[in-house]
Amino acid sequence: MSNANIFFDEQQQVFHLSNQQVSYLIQIEDGGVLSHLYFGKKVSGYHGSRLYPRLDRGFSPNLAGEPHQTDRRFSKDTLLQEYSGYDTGDFRQAAIKLRGVDGAEATDFRFKSYAIEKGKTNLSDLPHAYVLSDDEAQTLAIVLEDVTLNVELTLYYTIYADRPVVTRWSNIKNLSSENVKIEKIASLQLDLPANDLEVISLPGAHVRERSIERQPLRQGLTTFASHRGTSSHHMNPFIALVAPTTTENQGEAVGIQLVYSGNHQFSLEKDYVDQLRILAGINEEGFSWELTPDDSFQTPETLMVYSDEGLNGMSQAYHHLLRERVARGQYQYAQRPIVINNWEATYFDFNAEKIEEILDEAAPLGVEMFVLDDGWFGHRDDDDSSLGDWFEYTAKLKDGGGLNGLSQKVHDKGMKFGLWFEPEMISKNSDLYRAHPEYVLRIPERVMTPSRDQYVLDFSRPEVVDNIFDQMAAILDNVPIDYIKWDMNRHLTEVYSTALPADRQGEVAHRYMLGVYDLANRLTSRYPQILFEGCSGGGGRFDAGMLYYFPQSWTSDNTDPIERLKIQYGTTLSYPVSSMTAHVSASPNHQTGRKTSLKVRGDVATAGVFGYELNLAKLSDAEKSEIKDQISFYKQQRQLIQYGDFYRIKSPFEGNETAWEFVNEDKTEVLLFNYRVLSTAQPAFSITKMSHLLPEVLYVDQATQESFSGDELMSIGLYNAPIEQADFTSSVRYFKVQENELK
Ligand code: GLA
Repeated sequence: MSNANIFFDEQQQVFHLSNQQVSYLIQIEDGGVLSHLYFGKKVSGYHGSRLYPRLDRGFSPNLAGEPHQTDRRFSKDTLLQEYSGYDTGDFRQAAIKLRGVDGAEATDFRFKSYAIEKGKTNLSDLPHAYVLSDDEAQTLAIVLEDVTLNVELTLYYTIYADRPVVTRWSNIKNLSSENVKIEKIASLQLDLPANDLEVISLPGAHVRERSIERQPLRQGLTTFASHRGTSSHHMNPFIALVAPTTTENQGEAVGIQLVYSGNHQFSLEKDYVDQLRILAGINEEGFSWELTPDDSFQTPETLMVYSDEGLNGMSQAYHHLLRERVARGQYQYAQRPIVINNWEATYFDFNAEKIEEILDEAAPLGVEMFVLDDGWFGHRDDDDSSLGDWFEYTAKLKDGGGLNGLSQKVHDKGMKFGLWFEPEMISKNSDLYRAHPEYVLRIPERVMTPSRDQYVLDFSRPEVVDNIFDQMAAILDNVPIDYIKWDMNRHLTEVYSTALPADRQGEVAHRYMLGVYDLANRLTSRYPQILFEGCSGGGGRFDAGMLYYFPQSWTSDNTDPIERLKIQYGTTLSYPVSSMTAHVSASPNHQTGRKTSLKVRGDVATAGVFGYELNLAKLSDAEKSEIKDQISFYKQQRQLIQYGDFYRIKSPFEGNETAWEFVNEDKTEVLLFNYRVLSTAQPAFSITKMSHLLPEVLYVDQATQESFSGDELMSIGLYNAPIEQADFTSSVRYFKVQENELK
């Protein structure tokens, strides 16, 4: 029996979606307006406690259409709704704006019909969460219509059986005989009664991705958005709403995550009576879509999570959902190989000899995969040429037998071989640009805006996607390759396609994303044995959309372990550790100049999907032996780190210390990582309290053989005395439940 249940109460006109953890309630209100009642902790039944109060408010228009227009106490102006229209009595931000052929922009959607189905209705060309069997979820499709425009809007709600998760997206269909222009279409609207909620977002920058910010909401509009053509380093497509008292392990939190990698927008509007409207979806700025008769349009999907166990509870739900029902493919649950990547070791300046030097060092240390980064194709010796020319730069590796020779060598050493691509980009200095200048996103009469000396291919054109697919396939069919790093190193400007007419240019940014997803889909389907890693100048496209195709992503170009504490900690708010790659690089660090020990670099990077990004040939014997130890530690703990439950314990955003913990499924094994940034004279002895252990069993520290009860570790905690009088120190402790404790 599935725990997911959707029930329509005819009498109250209420839909109740529920499982053991959450309830979602929707009412068909007067005039067929769909009102939002509740999303939160499961309730056993609903008997009308949230019926929207009637009140005649000054300047609140009433409902159009007989017989409701006479009721002056009922208005969309303040009603909590599921999906609000524009210019018809609700003055808050609208979920949907359509322009008819007459130029009018008004929308007013009313209830038409509904259907309840087992399983999940999936989107067709967009990434989404999925189910493996129909018992895992139930889906409610509510059909609304705007009778004037003759368009139909379907809101899809899927409730999972055993997760505190509801997914949502919407689909619009033009039933009229005229074109309708979509100017805005949200994936989700969530209206909440008056509250003092705070919002958590993940803003950042290149090399400073996903900082955690928390702020109260005041009347007016607060938005978190990207208009860069990608989900971006600058604002991750995720927010959480929390009570002021919510902490890591206590209180309520609602997460909203978009399964989309392009321009996005989360807008939060607090109205004049302190009610909150949240909208999430494609960024309306620059967006429009011409909907021809009979045509339909799907929005990206959103993943909503409810937790009454604080932010950790929310993160757990996302970690499991993204790992188990968004990520796919052969590597979904596989232990990810330990990488050596040559980027920070050589940059563009490599040849067969230099690479072989690294390989000779890597294999004996236990490294499992070599990744050849940027510079192996076209005539690429710098970042100003050859993007778009995905054929081998034969002169560069000729002494080693070219790419094939290198692949052979890597495989002979028992390692896997990976290669870097940047499929969406083009350099002016490339054969592709010379042959097809029209393949670039650009406005014909306008000078193109450069960025890293490269330009963006017009992926809204299928022939461009075909061209890149064919070029990549030619390499992948001829060289044994186990891994691809898919990079994307600039943002979109002059988002204009010469293949589309003037009045359809608002479609280009979204069509571009559809092209990216199409290429990702074709490559991952044709080469299922290849592990793909997403990347965009580090973590610039770290989102659930890309995770649907690529189970892991380069977290940041910033490999400084101290800065990585914040980046990795922030990333775990909504993404699982199995998706987050982390490498040890050289000291002083190339991004910050900071000098740190190999120990702390290892202790930060081993808390993710691990690897190295430095010249192993330049290391001392002592360093190599330390690396060997790091690798063997990681191999022993890899399953626990990549697939265990991850709990944040001390935040790097709040103080000098950071701590986090990995716990296996039956809670018999725990890894505790502690980090201290700066050293102080007369240091305070802080305490680290662990969490989510079995209270009444003994855990044995495997290094010291000391044992502590679970509740002792959780309630009393361990002293975190300085390990040494130095900046940037760390420690890792591994506990196991004492044998025979569980019998
Ligand atoms: C981006 C990536 C780096 C590296 C370079 C190569 O910045 O994030 O890891 O691959 O591109 O140009």
